[in-house]
Amino acid sequence: MRTPVPARSPKPLDALNYRHAFHAGNFADLVKHAALLSLLAELTAKGPPLTIIDTHAGRGLYDLGGPEARKSGEAEAGILQLMRAKDPPPELARLTGQVSAVNGGGAIRSYPGSPWLIAQALRPADRYVACELRPDEHEALRVILRGRPNVRTLCVDGYAAAVKECPPTGRVLVLIDPPFEQADDYDRIVRTLAAVRRRNRTAQALVWLPIKDLETLDAFLRDLEDEVAAPMVVAETRMRPLADPMKMNGCALVLVGGPDLEAPLAAICGWVAQALGAGGGARIYPLAPQ
Ligand SMILES: C[S@@+](CC[C@H](N)C(=O)[O-])C[C@H]1O[C@@H](n2cnc3c(N)ncnc32)[C@H](O)[C@@H]1O
Repeated sequence: MRTPVPARSPKPLDALNYRHAFHAGNFADLVKHAALLSLLAELTAKGPPLTIIDTHAGRGLYDLGGPEARKSGEAEAGILQLMRAKDPPPELARLTGQVSAVNGGGAIRSYPGSPWLIAQALRPADRYVACELRPDEHEALRVILRGRPNVRTLCVDGYAAAVKECPPTGRVLVLIDPPFEQADDYDRIVRTLAAVRRRNRTAQALVWLPIKDLETLDAFLRDLEDEVAAPMVVAETRMRPLADPMKMNGCALVLVGGPDLEAPLAAICGWVAQALGAGGGARIYPLAPQ
């Protein structure tokens, strides 16, 4: 494992500069949210109640007509392209259906984040805990999810909450989707997953990561193999050759503890890389825990 970063509190809130409103509906959201919907469909098709813990929830619903989305143009290059596409694979249909639904079947002005998608998928006995550290983002999240009896929103550090809120028995899915603005995000993901799996041996997880350069991704995956004893699958979506490590050249998902989603992940990542990228590609492969 890399030299561990000493445990510390998150930075003061005014240092949390990240705003997902600039990025909502971009290529990385399409991959993450289409994969999340495929995973939720599997996990809620049958079986006992499921607890879902979303460590970095965001505000839940994003205004694509707002200044942030208009300035970045990322939704235009992402969800708006997908909504106009003639032949996307069926594995993207759950996401396009949810996006159409939040827009009442009309022009696409809003984009649903993970909290909205998860809340829609819950069965009556399932539970959802959505964690968001920024008070303003948390307040927006609380408002859009209010009145749902099996949903709790917490304005807390999501890494700590994932372990605290994880039931020791029963079915659990943890979604980890940090902004990667803090130097220790990679180490905190590994430590959180290891602690969650120690607390509940069958806990499953979906982790989102940016791909800038391969060294960072490979070091993270080696740490995961060393520290987390679970079957894991990596799905890479590369949007372009990794020539400039200062850019987000793609993204990766790590699915911890199954189920088998290899075919849908290949379809989702492959379409996004090919239709929205420039010379990239997709790769799905297993990790081998020590
Ligand atoms: C990438 S966005 C989340 C997007 C969301 N998962 C989705 O798919 O719609 C990351 C969010 O994490 C929040 N955040 C940053 N550090 C956090 C922490 N330690 N615990 C909880 N939330 C945090 C940020 O304010 C931001 O809203």
